[in-house]
Formats: sequence, C-alpha cells, structure tokens
Amino acid sequence: MPDPPLNPFRFGNFVIDEFADRTAELAEVEADMRNGQDLVIFAPRRLGKSSLVLKAAAVMRRKKGLVAYLNVMTTPNKARFAERLAAAIYADVAAPKAKLKDKALAMFQGLRIVPTITVDPVDGRLGFSFGVGNAEADLEKTIEMLLELPAKIAEEREQRVVLILDEFQEIIDLDPNFPKLLRSIFQAQPDVCHIYLGSRRHVMRDLFSDMNEPFWRSAKQMEIGLIPPAQFARFIRRRFDTTNKALRAEVCDRLLDITHGHPYATQELCYSLWEQTPFDREADDDLLARALELVLQSEHAHFSLVWDGLAAGQRVLLEALAREPGRPLSGAYRNRHRLSGPSSTQTALKALVERELVEREPDGSYRVMEPFLVEWLDELVT
Ligand SMILES: Nc1ncnc2c1ncn2[C@@H]1O[C@H](COP(=O)(O)OP(=O)(O)OP(=O)(O)O)[C@@H](O)[C@H]1O
Ligand SMILES: [Mg+2]
Repeated sequence: MPDPPLNPFRFGNFVIDEFADRTAELAEVEADMRNGQDLVIFAPRRLGKSSLVLKAAAVMRRKKGLVAYLNVMTTPNKARFAERLAAAIYADVAAPKAKLKDKALAMFQGLRIVPTITVDPVDGRLGFSFGVGNAEADLEKTIEMLLELPAKIAEEREQRVVLILDEFQEIIDLDPNFPKLLRSIFQAQPDVCHIYLGSRRHVMRDLFSDMNEPFWRSAKQMEIGLIPPAQFARFIRRRFDTTNKALRAEVCDRLLDITHGHPYATQELCYSLWEQTPFDREADDDLLARALELVLQSEHAHFSLVWDGLAAGQRVLLEALAREPGRPLSGAYRNRHRLSGPSSTQTALKALVERELVEREPDGSYRVMEPFLVEWLDELVT
C-alpha cells in the first residue's frame, strides 16, 4: 500500500514550490531581473517577500540566469559577511562555468585577504574562510572587491547578474558606513541587478526613502500585501483534495476570514486543520475551531513574551486596535476605547509600529497585522 499523503502546507521558511497567486508580482520581479532594474520590496513580516524573490530567482536560474542570494541576517560580523558573500557569488554565479576549486581560487586570489577554501565532504560545496585577526581595513577592502566581482563576472560573460540581499537592513548593524560604501559600488554596476528585501519595514523605508540616505531613490519600490482570499481558497482546497481530504467552501471562507489571506498565518492554520482532519473526511467548523485553538496554544509563549515587553499604554492601544482597526489618534476613537491623550497615544502607536505589531494601511488607518495575535488578545480579554 502506498504511504498516506503528507501535510501539504508549509510555514516558517520561504516556499517556492507551494505558491498561491502572486502572479502579477512574480512577473514584475522577473521582468526587473531581466531588465537589470534595481528593486526594493517592502512588506510587513512574513508576507512572503523572500519566497517571491526566490521563486523569481529559480525561474531565472532555469533559464541559465546568474543569480546570487545572500541573507545578511546570517552574517553577524564583517568576516562572516565576506565569507558568505564569497560563497554566494561562487555557488550561484561563478560555479556554472568554474566548477573546479582552482578556478574559484583564481577568481578570489586577487582579493586583499586570500580566503582559505574548503570543500564540504557531503555536498561538495565550497566554503570560504578569511581567518581571524585580519586588520579591519583589509577586511573592508576585501568586501569591496567581493562586491565588485558580480559586475566583473557580468562583463566577462556578457550576461546580466542578479544580486539579492535579503534582510538588507542588517547591513547598518554591520557598519553604519556600509550603506554608503555599498551604494557607491553598486551605482557603477549597470549590468548587475540589485534586489533588496528586509523585514524591519521602517528601517528599510528610512534607507530607501530618506533623501539623506545613500540609497535614496536608488531602486524601484514595490509593495506586496495579503493574498486575495479567492486565490488563496483555490490553492488551499486543491491541496486538501489532492491529499484525500476535503474542505468545504464555506469553512475555507471562514478560515480566510480569520487570516485575511496573510500568507504565513494561512499556511499555519491550514497545516493545523489538515492535521485535525481524518483522511476521506471533510473539514468542518468544529475541526476549524480546534485547529485554531492548537495554533493559539503553540503561539502562546511567543505572544506572552511580546505582551510582557509592552508598556501599559501600548497594551491598551494594541487591545483596542485588535478589537477595532481604525484611526486611534482621532478623538472619537480614543473616547470609544478610553485611550489617553493624543500625544501619549501617538507615542504608543509609534512604538507598536516600530515593533511591527501594528501596520499603517494606505488609507491612513491602523491595524494589528498578525491575525493570531488578534485572536489571542481576544481570548485574553474575554
Ligand atoms: N505565495 C505564497 N503562497 C502561499 N504561502 C506563502 C506564499 N508566500 C509566502 N507564503 C507563506 O508565508 C511564509 C513566510 O514567507 P517568507 O519567509 O517568504 O516571508 P517574508 O516576508 O520573507 O518573511 P520575513 O519578514 O520573516 O523575512 C512561508 O513560509 C509560507 O508559509
Ligand atoms: Mg524573508
């Protein structure tokens, strides 16, 4: 007998095979990659920025495009940054034509600090180490030269290279002067397409939208939002169908009423609902309620930590916004929810936005972004 199907929903890491919608956004990112148009993507946490760009990158790679991906979150210091950058350039861009270790060495031997190159015995991937105790200036020069490599490769191959920098805001923590350095190198690279993503939205906004910042107006800006429920519903129900379970349309609608098509939250709740639903059965409202309860239980520790870290005024405002998204600075809203005066509400609001708990909508109203936080707060106060 064949093994029973596995849970088809995924959450946590980026996904590229399991994709709901984002057709227009995907086409746009792919076109920008082809055209060499620099791009920065803004979105609240866990909305699918990395997934979107990595899916476009996979399409480019299938067409033999040269794409390097570096997550700056994984590079806590300059030496690591240099090592991971070298590895990304080698694995994704240089490797297709320079598979041998000595070819890679030749490419990296002109650097100020010549890396030690190791071969992973399991998958054969090359690792780069710049050692410890290097002078800061040498390390910086090495990074500069590494950042110039994609352009050299593009010129040699007469082919566009795409460099994706994920969690780009972390660059500031590496060195406050890095934005300036990177910008000055990148602007001389017409054949390299730079794509920037980041999860700390206000930091990213400051980097790209503040005219005193080096990256001001240096890239096309793109926003991504929630996935439209109708598209998400098709994706979800098809997954239940193809794994010998079913989900009634009305129950699916109610699930999406809870998550509003938030990609991560939707996949998390679907994962739980799928687990609760026996094979050859239809998921109903009772199972949905149980699935939600389990998700809230598993998020409890995380939300409690968030809650503990908030000042009293922030808690009151968060609770109000969970009950009613809107304009908390207006007198009517503050009266309705018995909030304090405009200036302390403003201070609390700013803090909640900076912590990415609350989002400003294009129409100027505010709401709690994470669907399960809304549910959790609801249970907390009732
Ligand atoms: N197009 C999609 N279809 C279905 N699910 C998606 C889609 N995009 C993202 N997801 C879900 O959202 C989760 C988070 O996606 P991803 O890590 O790409 O978001 P992100 O915006 O980069 O998050 P972070 O802000 O944490 O970096 C994925 O694990 C997946 O469950
Ligand atoms: Mg991401």
